[in-house]
Amino acid sequence: MIRLPSREDSGSSPATDAARQQCIRPACGATYELKSVHQRCEKCGALLDVAYDWERLPVPARLALFDERRASSRNPLDYSGVWRFRELIPFAELDKVLTIGEGQTQLRRTDGVAAYVGLDPGRLFLQYEGLNPSGSFKDNGMTGAFTHANMVGAKYAACASTGNTSASLALFAGVSGLLKAVVFVGSGKIAYGKLSQALDYGATTLQIAGDFDDAMRQVQEVCLQTNLYLMNSLNPFRLEGQKAIMYRVLEGLGWEPPDWIVVPGGNLGNSSAFGKAFAELRQLGLIPRIPRVAIINSTGADTLDRLVNRAGLRWNGGNVGDAAIEAFYAQMDAEKRKAHTIASAIEINRPVNLDKALRTLEVTNGVVRAVPDAAILDAKAMVGAHGFGCEPASAASVAGARLLREQGVIARDERVVCILTGHLLKDPHATVGYHSYDAERLREEFGQFGVAQARHANRPIPVPDDIEAILSIIKDL
Ligand code: F0G
Repeated sequence: MIRLPSREDSGSSPATDAARQQCIRPACGATYELKSVHQRCEKCGALLDVAYDWERLPVPARLALFDERRASSRNPLDYSGVWRFRELIPFAELDKVLTIGEGQTQLRRTDGVAAYVGLDPGRLFLQYEGLNPSGSFKDNGMTGAFTHANMVGAKYAACASTGNTSASLALFAGVSGLLKAVVFVGSGKIAYGKLSQALDYGATTLQIAGDFDDAMRQVQEVCLQTNLYLMNSLNPFRLEGQKAIMYRVLEGLGWEPPDWIVVPGGNLGNSSAFGKAFAELRQLGLIPRIPRVAIINSTGADTLDRLVNRAGLRWNGGNVGDAAIEAFYAQMDAEKRKAHTIASAIEINRPVNLDKALRTLEVTNGVVRAVPDAAILDAKAMVGAHGFGCEPASAASVAGARLLREQGVIARDERVVCILTGHLLKDPHATVGYHSYDAERLREEFGQFGVAQARHANRPIPVPDDIEAILSIIKDL
């Protein structure tokens, strides 16, 4: 962790009264002090945003300012792929920013995957968020939440996680020494790469006898009853940091918005942050148009897909229809339906940011789709074969883009950015399973439905310890 001294070239911290926390429902609109801690709106229970009086803040006239910072990154604030854009995240007191060099990620044009998706060459870009220090996009948000935790003097923090949030929280806590971390994970529900991180970075790790939804319910209650600071994406300061993923995508495209952003949907924090980023950029006159956001569920954890595409749920000016959502969850419980997908990162049935994701769909003219595990794993293998690779949940974005191409929703000459949220090495078990097991074993091992065959498996070849046998196998390569 780098505790930043105030520096002249860092720019000044915003006037704190130009930033506040605010209920997302216009009918309520309750506001709360920036430096106060709330899980939700105290008046109506809805989600909170960080809201700004932009006209009182020093917003740059051109986005290209940020390019200059990138070129000279000796200032840790400029080195961070989040705080480089600090005028667009202006809640932070700059001497309280906690950065570990997050956001050094890459946007890469990938024609091999474009062909798989059904796009013309040069039209598909992959945003590799797995290159963050803890190996997933979560670090973008964690630096935001840690900065706010530092501003309010928190000493303990907690999150529920399918593995990546806990890895990121544990890393930030260990490196900064700012606070002690407690992570809640569903027992047996997170990939080993991620569990190994929480343990190795030294977080107190609670394996709850349940799944993510159970852990999420418990951690909210524990944080209400104690002085633990909640680090899940319910925390609006997390989402402020995650807006930077979109700033970097735009930067990678020379500040020209793409046609589509495709992102996996789990707890729906990322998609919520993206919508807010674009709404603000448009409000500030910094982009000419807003890309459409496609949020991709797994069919094994498809609450958003069902609510939007079957039940017709919409943002509707903040009146999202709480009764319909409650009835949906009541039915889910009655049917004992639990989230179940090989993409364990998005194995979530009760996404806490549902309302904000609906707002993103409204703002961006977005769509939702669900893709089966077989399509996710095939897409993952294609990303691996043509790019840097990713974990299963990340590949839902590529599988989703392919489905939207097949359905004619995305045209072949549109510019599409798929967000690859986590690193390949997070879940080697899924990767090795896909490439080396037969379909039956894969189904048994992962309790899968729908993995008919691993269409792009690169099977390891058993060979005797014999030079002739080895040569006879590789001669036809
Ligand atoms: N991809 C990866 C690799 C993730 O870890 C997550 C979420 C998502 C996508 C979904 O993002 O929640 O913003 O819609 N992982 C959380 C966790 C839930 O605990 O690590 P979202």
